[in-house]
Amino acid sequence: MERNEARVRIEKLRSQLEEYGYHYYVLDEPIASDAEYDQLMQELISLEEQFPEFISDDSPSVRVGGEPLPFFEKVEHRSPMLSLGNAFSEQDLRDFDRRVRQTVGDEVSYSCELKIDGLAVSLLYENGRFLRGATRGDGMIGEDITHNLRTIPSIPLRLKEPIDIEVRGEVFMPKRSFETLNKAKEEAGEEKFANPRNAAAGSLRQLDPKLAAKRNLDVFIYAIGNISGKDISSHHQGLRYLKEVGFKVNNESRHCETIDDVIAFTNSWLERRADLPYEIDGIVIKVDSVEQQKELGFTAKSPRWAIAYKFPAEEVVTTLLNIELNVGRTGVVTPTAILKPVTVAGTTVKRASLHNEDLIREKDIRLGDSVVIKKAGDIIPEVVNVLADLRTGDEKEFLMPTHCPECESELVRLEGEVALRCINPECPAQIREGLIHFVSRNAMNIDGLGEKVIEQLFSHNLVTNVADLYQLERDELHKLERMGEKSVDNLLEAIEKSKKNSLERLLFGLGIRFVGSKAAKTLAMAFGEMEKLQQASVDELLAINEIGEKMADSIVSYFQKPEVTELLSKLESLGVNMTYKGPKPVAAEEIVDSPFANKTVVLTGKLEALTRSEAKEKIEALGGKVTGSVSKNTDLLIAGEDAGSKLTKAQELNIEIWTEQKLVDVLNQ
Ligand code: IVH
Repeated sequence: MERNEARVRIEKLRSQLEEYGYHYYVLDEPIASDAEYDQLMQELISLEEQFPEFISDDSPSVRVGGEPLPFFEKVEHRSPMLSLGNAFSEQDLRDFDRRVRQTVGDEVSYSCELKIDGLAVSLLYENGRFLRGATRGDGMIGEDITHNLRTIPSIPLRLKEPIDIEVRGEVFMPKRSFETLNKAKEEAGEEKFANPRNAAAGSLRQLDPKLAAKRNLDVFIYAIGNISGKDISSHHQGLRYLKEVGFKVNNESRHCETIDDVIAFTNSWLERRADLPYEIDGIVIKVDSVEQQKELGFTAKSPRWAIAYKFPAEEVVTTLLNIELNVGRTGVVTPTAILKPVTVAGTTVKRASLHNEDLIREKDIRLGDSVVIKKAGDIIPEVVNVLADLRTGDEKEFLMPTHCPECESELVRLEGEVALRCINPECPAQIREGLIHFVSRNAMNIDGLGEKVIEQLFSHNLVTNVADLYQLERDELHKLERMGEKSVDNLLEAIEKSKKNSLERLLFGLGIRFVGSKAAKTLAMAFGEMEKLQQASVDELLAINEIGEKMADSIVSYFQKPEVTELLSKLESLGVNMTYKGPKPVAAEEIVDSPFANKTVVLTGKLEALTRSEAKEKIEALGGKVTGSVSKNTDLLIAGEDAGSKLTKAQELNIEIWTEQKLVDVLNQ
């Protein structure tokens, strides 16, 4: 094809695809088949490959995602992205209405909209072309996520009019897409997202837009941030205009004349929300007239002309069938409520943690009780209270056992703890849970060794400690349920591979009290080898930033145990790596040249180019020590925007002061 011909064809394909996409994704009324759309898209992509001079970032082909970014740029919002005040009851809504009418008089009407549970974004268009999109951030400064937003098919790349406009809306993941994504994650053995909101946030925070493109994100635009040359006098008129120029606007908004109508509208959604294909967490109520909005103005954080009515967490009643006791890795015995299955906020709930004995006493929870259940933060099921009036007299008080349900040794309540503990180191439950922890993702990360397999290995007596995992034989594994040739191969390979893990995984996997995965990394980096850590004293441990007394004591007493020494030498003889393999900490003598060598540095004010923790990490990697407050021991203060009292103090003490820019320059050297 000739160059000119290609240009015409590309433009034709673009407007055709744009039109198809608009009908499909924005209006939800397809006018072409998927096959036709895909075919035109393929043609466009291949023409753009042949004639790269015509590539444009508002071509529908960008929906598949371009090159990954190295990091997110910061973006200052032209006007701040505020949040909303909350209303939790009918009374709160009436109070809001009264406050509004006190200021603007009784001639007021409201626009009510669904409060979409996703992430606020700002989209900037110039001359009708999508220029830049950003997260809300702290309201003043967000992150540039244009590359990911371009992949969302309901975000128009070109508007129907060549206007300059900044709009705000909510990016979300539809319920169906969320379920599909989590299913795929489960099958891949990856951690699932807790809810669609987190899934949407995680997707928008991808540096690689090709990943974001696969996440099926969607958007509703709910406000005009800035617009030039257009007079809009009411919110509902604004929404209509947004729709006209090509934005996807939610269709469920309602113009209400009185607060009673508003309340009726909010109540009507309490039940209907479950039927929506996306999640909402409330209703947003806005004074409709733009002039009245101006009159009402803003508080420091939110507009006085709008409020968010938050739905109460859904509560349901069910029966407490039993209380089960679980012994965890550290011996803590946790009671769990076994419930008659009920649906709460979209999923079936069968169990809820009761945490400890004190909670059972406080709420007077008895076996057979009718209990009220809700999901805290809409995720974790919890027992709210007992409906004592519904008791028949057959309910039974629950007594915590005096002995471990697994090994029958006496349980103890350690000083200052509410938990009951089994302190028998041989307790099978603790060993089993310890094994599950050892193979888990952040520890040795052995694929194919899930809870079920561990339980079988344990009950067949094939594994009693973590070293046994490395001595498993092929024919032993075949005896387990659902262990074919292929699974056995994969499992043995994964076990073998884990031997090469860097030290911190093993350290975390051992399950030393108080040593989480982050501390394990710090320790591995600081000591480099297991043997050195085994010999470390409390003082040596305390000398490391981030290691406190409780952890230091726990580490020393762990390594003093003869059975630990034995286990570690066993693991070593089986070929398990005992050294740190990550990026090297720079040795003190290598960094005498560094401007931070042995310097005590304090960071203050707002940093823009890098986050506090990035700055800290970099300075520490170059031999500096970062502390929180300015004193005569401070060598250097890095002062970002709006630095306050620390800057003043440093000036008084004659301490060297750098701007953030200087820090960045020095780091770049
Ligand atoms: S209006 C000036 N309308 O709720 C206030 N917000 O705290 C602008 N949200 O961060 C917000 N759906 O992310 C508005 N229809 C809707 C909304 C909505 C969801 C979110 C938004 C904001 C938060 C309010």
